[in-house]
Amino acid sequence: MRLGILASHGGSNMQAIIDATRQGEIPAEVVVVIGNNAGAMAATRARDAGIPFHHLSGKTHPEFAELDTEIASVLSDAGVDLVMLAGYMKKVGPRTIARFPNRIVNIHPALLPKFGGVGMFGARVHQAVLDAGEEVTGVTVHLVDQEYDRGPIVAQCEVKVQEGDDVETLAARVLEREHAFYVETLGRIVSGELDLDTLN
Ligand code: GRF
Repeated sequence: MRLGILASHGGSNMQAIIDATRQGEIPAEVVVVIGNNAGAMAATRARDAGIPFHHLSGKTHPEFAELDTEIASVLSDAGVDLVMLAGYMKKVGPRTIARFPNRIVNIHPALLPKFGGVGMFGARVHQAVLDAGEEVTGVTVHLVDQEYDRGPIVAQCEVKVQEGDDVETLAARVLEREHAFYVETLGRIVSGELDLDTLN
């Protein structure tokens, strides 16, 4: 399976996927990375891994429709089968979604549908979990549609909130779990155990 990754910042989830595929854990290959931030660590990681990186953003394409078309073209030209969002902070456009029906997944650092939606990213998610007094949070992999964090859920796993957790400790524990869980979920998609066409 040929993978295309969209990433904005650190790219640690992307790195986990690159490592797992290269170590032969999963019969898949990251063939292209797209990022909206040319100076991001995700771009450096892609280049270090020898994977083509495309900077596509409001700077390169001021019109959102053109940006969307270009992203869809880059992914198509690379022969991508599955698009994985890994800390991608921008909206995926309708053309890209139409080009890859049920083939775009995202990872979110909480148990959706709780703690998702517009403005719920990074530390804000974990702060909201702590403010709500939740005993359990987790990780969600879901299909991407037009609304933030709303597509059908592909897989979830729980992470316990521990006594004395603050945003930093909780975020770090969830992120570590994300790395393993995104890889594990990808493996289940590639093997056919998870069928992205039968989710709702
Ligand atoms: C992760 O917490 C992911 O769930 C969220 O953004 C973060 C990205 O981290 N969507 P990284 O860029 O993979 O290090």
